[in-house]
Amino acid sequence: MTTAILQVDRLCKSFGGVHAVRELSFSVEPGQILGLIGPNGSGKSTTVNALAGVFSVTSGEILLAGGHIQTLPEYERVSMGLARTFQTASVFSEFTVREQIRLGCNVTLHSHPLSSVFGIGRHPGEDEAVNQRIEDILELTGLVAVADDTVGTITAAEQRFLMIASALAAQPKILLLDEPAAGLVSHERKVLSHLIKAIRDTGISVLVIEHHMALIMEVCDRIVVLNFGSKIAEGTPEEIRNDQAVIDAYLGEAP
Ligand SMILES: Nc1ncnc2c1ncn2[C@@H]1O[C@H](COP(=O)(O)OP(=O)(O)OP(=O)(O)O)[C@@H](O)[C@H]1O
Ligand SMILES: [Mg+2]
Repeated sequence: MTTAILQVDRLCKSFGGVHAVRELSFSVEPGQILGLIGPNGSGKSTTVNALAGVFSVTSGEILLAGGHIQTLPEYERVSMGLARTFQTASVFSEFTVREQIRLGCNVTLHSHPLSSVFGIGRHPGEDEAVNQRIEDILELTGLVAVADDTVGTITAAEQRFLMIASALAAQPKILLLDEPAAGLVSHERKVLSHLIKAIRDTGISVLVIEHHMALIMEVCDRIVVLNFGSKIAEGTPEEIRNDQAVIDAYLGEAP
């Protein structure tokens, strides 16, 4: 049996009296796209924030590639291979797209942070490797044409793709996407579907939260369904589509 990239065991997160996530367990295997769905307020973003280390968990365990990470700070989890995007886009508008992606690369650098200024502590070949990685990410995310535009001037859809590009810059083992299709129109969602699968095909596992069922059903290998912070179902898209508890809680008319 292979080690899961991400394993979540009996995760609980309370805010005061609000049990946002209750006894949640699931795992993401290498090369897998896992969907996390559920009604508004069911605990999806709380789960992603707990995995990313935005706040401490109330109880439970989180393992990344077999190692416990639930007590580590956010930046250490990123450098160990867990990267995420946010439900709402927020980017530094004065940077170009390429510079923004370069910032995301910094967590992986071995050179001294000031090496590009003072020429000290440089690791040979690192600049070239980073430049190549940035070009590859621009290509993968379809941002080549706007690479030298400032972030504030690109479209809302391009900003969403840039958020994914910045997360990829950290060379993650797993990418957590919180509502990546928010604000995208139909043809942009199709591009996003292709991108998520292309990311998986490069060997990165993906955990995706989305309300757009067509996208979830198309890209996910497995789906976990939350309701009031608890897992109510887990299975393939086909199994979830036909699960009566899921239809009652969330899907309403089967899509
Ligand atoms: N920082 C916080 N402080 C207090 N309560 C919070 C906090 N974050 C989330 N909650 C509460 O936890 C519950 C789960 O919220 P969460 O944002 O995880 O839901 P969600 O599934 O992401 O919903 P949506 O689909 O609307 O994004 C909600 O009751 C919410 O009000
Ligand atoms: Mg949310």
